[in-house]
Amino acid sequence: MSDRILVEQAWIALEKSIIYYQGKPIGTIAACDPDIAALNYDQCFVRDFVSSALIFLINGRSDIVRNFLEVTLKLQPKKMQLDSATPSRGLMPASFKIVSDNGQEYLKPDFGEHAIGRVAPADAGLWWIILLRAYTIATEDYSLAQREDFQEGIRLILQLCLVTRFDMYPMVLVPDAASMIDRRMGLYGHPLDIQSLFYGALRASLQLLVADRQENQTIIQAVHCRLPLLLKQLRENYWLDIDRLNVIYRYQVEEYGEQALNQFNIYSDSIPFYKLAKWLPEVAGYLAGNLGPSQLDTRFFALGNLMAIIVSLTDELQSQRILNLIELRWTDLIGNMPMKLCYPALEDIEWKIVTGADPKNRPWSYHNGGSWPVLLWMLTAAAKKMDRGELAHHAIAIAERRLLKDHWPEYYDGQDGRLIGKEARKYQTWTIAGYLLAKEFIANPDHLKLVTFPFEDVSD
Ligand code: GLC
Repeated sequence: MSDRILVEQAWIALEKSIIYYQGKPIGTIAACDPDIAALNYDQCFVRDFVSSALIFLINGRSDIVRNFLEVTLKLQPKKMQLDSATPSRGLMPASFKIVSDNGQEYLKPDFGEHAIGRVAPADAGLWWIILLRAYTIATEDYSLAQREDFQEGIRLILQLCLVTRFDMYPMVLVPDAASMIDRRMGLYGHPLDIQSLFYGALRASLQLLVADRQENQTIIQAVHCRLPLLLKQLRENYWLDIDRLNVIYRYQVEEYGEQALNQFNIYSDSIPFYKLAKWLPEVAGYLAGNLGPSQLDTRFFALGNLMAIIVSLTDELQSQRILNLIELRWTDLIGNMPMKLCYPALEDIEWKIVTGADPKNRPWSYHNGGSWPVLLWMLTAAAKKMDRGELAHHAIAIAERRLLKDHWPEYYDGQDGRLIGKEARKYQTWTIAGYLLAKEFIANPDHLKLVTFPFEDVSD
């Protein structure tokens, strides 16, 4: 089937997902699957909408994005909460829906109080800032971001992330399930997916916050302090390649004081060294999934690694080495559908203990080693940015063989991604938008500027 038909069909499906509030388009719903109970898939998710928003911005539909940014900003709690039953000040909702009462429409957000597992999203606010920057770049309209309500919105999101709590690290500390992976998957602490978005949002904020406004001074200073520390921690202590593996393998433990090499007191037995040493090619590397006290999660998480390349959290050489890994471990990470959200899957007793025996996240399904087509746009953006367009072409060609025929599933299952996800929604909006975006990034790499940051000194 020609890719022109695929693109046409994708646009038709994307148009169908647009939702209207008081007559204005304000977002897209997560999925339009007529055959499975909607649960909350009939809502507009902030993280899901980013893929739609970018494709709208590229295609001159910035009105939808502007409306989305305005309505979500109004949903953000602005006052200090004194009870834990109401969402924290600055939090952005995971999703919202339009409800009608007596002919009156209003928006009902979900900050996690309705979500399965009652999880609050840590990524929504970060995506929101990244999207606001993309809107500003695409439209060259700085006035929206500079409006005082938007400046306040950015400040409140940052305050929530930058606040000093019970933590000694520059990373942001979050509960499990606070991101795209919104079920328990052993991501409590400092998961990479959140850190990459955090870094991108901090850099975006420096461009969005008006430098000479009095109210912005403290927060701008805080961002300047945090960025280099975060960068160093991620580039040095999350980084895994054969050389690093050799160092960690021979770590001393129980070291005390400032000179400690094994700062996190990682015990050798907690890391699958022999498997990793065999799996990691000499020229490859990646950022680990999580880092904390006696914890180095060596699973590969695609969103965090791809966004790290996109926002220049990894340096040029590291970015190339992540792409080398994807190229040389293609069967594992891409297989029959780009690409694995996380690799490898947790199996057996680990699956039981870490996920709470979650049947939706059984090994090689859904978040636990499933393949998510939405990641295609991030893979394409990362590969194009690093002049490795051939990887993106190859991945898109694989996706094109299946996506339309399978009705744009949310995810695929199996070690090689050959099965349509067991509980996957069809007509999943970010699958559709992700495909369209990947095609746009290939056709016109200038659009990459909506999401990328150059490799440069972060103190500028
Ligand atoms: C699932 C995914 C989440 C997504 C939502 C809507 O809960 O885990 O990342 O935002 O579906 O598509």
